[in-house]
Amino acid sequence: MYNAKAYSVASPTSPFDATTIARREPTETDVQIEILFCGICHSDLHQARNEWKEVMPTVYPCVPGHEIVGRVTKVGSAVTKFKAGDLGAVGCLVDSDRTCPECQAGLEQFCASPTLTYNFPDKHTGGVTYGGYSESIVVDERFVLRVPANLDLAGTAPLLCAGITTYSPMRHWGVTKGKKVGIVGLGGLGHMGVKFAHALGAQTVVFTTSPGKKEDALRLGADEVVISKNADEMAKHAGSFDFILDAVSADHNINAFIQLLRRDGTITLVGAPEKPLAVAAFGLLFGRKSLSGSPIGGIPETQEMLDFCGKNNITSDVEVIPIQKVNEAYERLLKSDVKYRFSIDMASLKAE
Ligand SMILES: NC(=O)c1ccc[n+]([C@@H]2O[C@H](COP(=O)([O-])OP(=O)(O)OC[C@H]3O[C@@H](n4cnc5c(N)ncnc54)[C@H](OP(=O)(O)O)[C@@H]3O)[C@@H](O)[C@H]2O)c1
Ligand SMILES: [Zn+2]
Ligand SMILES: [Zn+2]
Repeated sequence: MYNAKAYSVASPTSPFDATTIARREPTETDVQIEILFCGICHSDLHQARNEWKEVMPTVYPCVPGHEIVGRVTKVGSAVTKFKAGDLGAVGCLVDSDRTCPECQAGLEQFCASPTLTYNFPDKHTGGVTYGGYSESIVVDERFVLRVPANLDLAGTAPLLCAGITTYSPMRHWGVTKGKKVGIVGLGGLGHMGVKFAHALGAQTVVFTTSPGKKEDALRLGADEVVISKNADEMAKHAGSFDFILDAVSADHNINAFIQLLRRDGTITLVGAPEKPLAVAAFGLLFGRKSLSGSPIGGIPETQEMLDFCGKNNITSDVEVIPIQKVNEAYERLLKSDVKYRFSIDMASLKAE
């Protein structure tokens, strides 16, 4: 074991503070990564504040962060994919049982025994896993992704969660040219959803509660922007969408979006608000519509997404911050005030 600098929270109401955590020395199949950038996902906030206590209660101290890019510093003797000096990236998964049908199919996100990057039992240390708000991380090479050389690293980090979480459902539900696709909530996930829907050729409509984001939405690739609080603007789109991706982090009226789906259309939740959403049955019945959900993505598809981003020059629009501003960043996330992802420059942790 060795000590690594990190930022942690000690309780649902505590601010983040500098700390030291124990990491394992790399085993023969492990890759050790010096973390260069880590994105701030709204899931980090939900978890740090124990808002998902019914599904995944938080173990404190908690070190979040699952949008990680960095430089490989050491590899185990059996590692073949990486060598010291390479770039490497880590998302929401750092292990799984690797043998079940889901893992065999490369759908590790559905494994019954996954190891998430933070707040999950750590097989090696006996404690819980610690995420990317840290100077380094040690991960089995099977769960480390390759980073296309042409991409800006600060903007690449958020691809590891916000990117794959929006890319995967769009691929699964066949978003392509000729489809009308809605993205609800222009935050970290939503803005990646817009970029992907546009790159996949779909007619892309953004639904936002923030009128000030309209110009940005168009610049990001939207064909049209609807202020979702405006009933008249919403009514114009009734019954017209093939697919809607709902990336909202808080309670909201999902029925207003279900009514915008055409027959057999699908709305997929990627947002994971603290409280259950109320769904009106009739909205789904008439039109045989589907309500579904989608979690992150498997390792092969995450690599496919990164390669797609490399080819299409897609990264997240980021505001780079030092780790010392993480508490302020969380408050701004709650106000939907981020354009469109905070990416922590981990060099700032050296000052602690
Ligand atoms: N499924 C998965 O695997 C997965 C992965 C990552 C994250 N998530 C979840 O996805 C959600 C979004 O994450 P994120 O990092 O993209 O968050 P974010 O950057 O904070 O964006 C959320 C956006 O939702 C909209 N919003 C916020 N409060 C709202 C309200 N009360 N009513 C209507 N709209 C509201 C805002 O967009 P506008 O200003 O445009 O309205 C806001 O920018 C979170 O719940 C997160 O935990 C799920
Ligand atoms: Zn995330
Ligand atoms: Zn499995």
